Amino acid sequence: MTFLITAGPTREPIDPVRYISNRSSGKMGYAIAEAALAAGHEVTLISGPVNLEAPRGARLIPAPTGEAMFDAVREHADQSDICVLCAAVADYKPANVSSTKIKKQSEKFLLELIPTCDILNSLGQRRDRQFALVGFAAETDHVEENAAKKLRAKNCDIMVANDVSGSDSGMESDMNEVTILFRDGEKKKISRAQKEIIARELVKIFSNFATKMFDKKNVMIN
Ligand code: PMT
Repeated sequence: MTFLITAGPTREPIDPVRYISNRSSGKMGYAIAEAALAAGHEVTLISGPVNLEAPRGARLIPAPTGEAMFDAVREHADQSDICVLCAAVADYKPANVSSTKIKKQSEKFLLELIPTCDILNSLGQRRDRQFALVGFAAETDHVEENAAKKLRAKNCDIMVANDVSGSDSGMESDMNEVTILFRDGEKKKISRAQKEIIARELVKIFSNFATKMFDKKNVMIN
């Protein structure tokens, strides 16, 4: 199968030296890419700025901003069997990007922010999509409840609920713990483990799901 995976944060520029971003390290997305490659799948990895080595054998596409990530995903999604959107795309970006460094002022400084384009939602709303769509929900409270809401709102097949409230699991950490929510209400938990181990389980779950989804489509066509 062909996996498209997004990973890491995006950086939304304010001026030539400043940006809005978040703490995502890219470790979870890169671990999924490595696990998919190890299982014999093809991988296109669309990555925000991270300090990680490119997984050998993956097609790596750098995407520093939400807009660049959106364009790269749009270009490659239809060649994929499974799209796994693990990146922490900034939800907002500055309304205006200054071409020169903004000078320090003594008064209060207000920055106007506008929403970025929601990549996952744009794929989820496509009626013609042929790939399985997996989102990740990074939550600090009511984790499963909020993830289930995102699963429905963004019309995904699977949503991986990720508690990011602690420092020893989730964002930046080498460890993670997730709950996988399916469209039909089924739920699977993967308890605390290294991201590499979690990634191996996730790849199995995603590819099994996609196989069943494609089998069902073929039965309907025949
Ligand atoms: O990178 P690590 O340090 O290893 O941490 C991993 C992780 C915690 C970042 C990862 O496991 C994770 O949870 N990723 C999702 C982060 C996130 O942005 O969650 P969200 O709940 O805000 O977004 C929900 C989904 O919408 C995500 O699939 C996200 O990629 C997608 N999204 C969000 C905003 C946007 N503009 N476009 C999107 O596609």
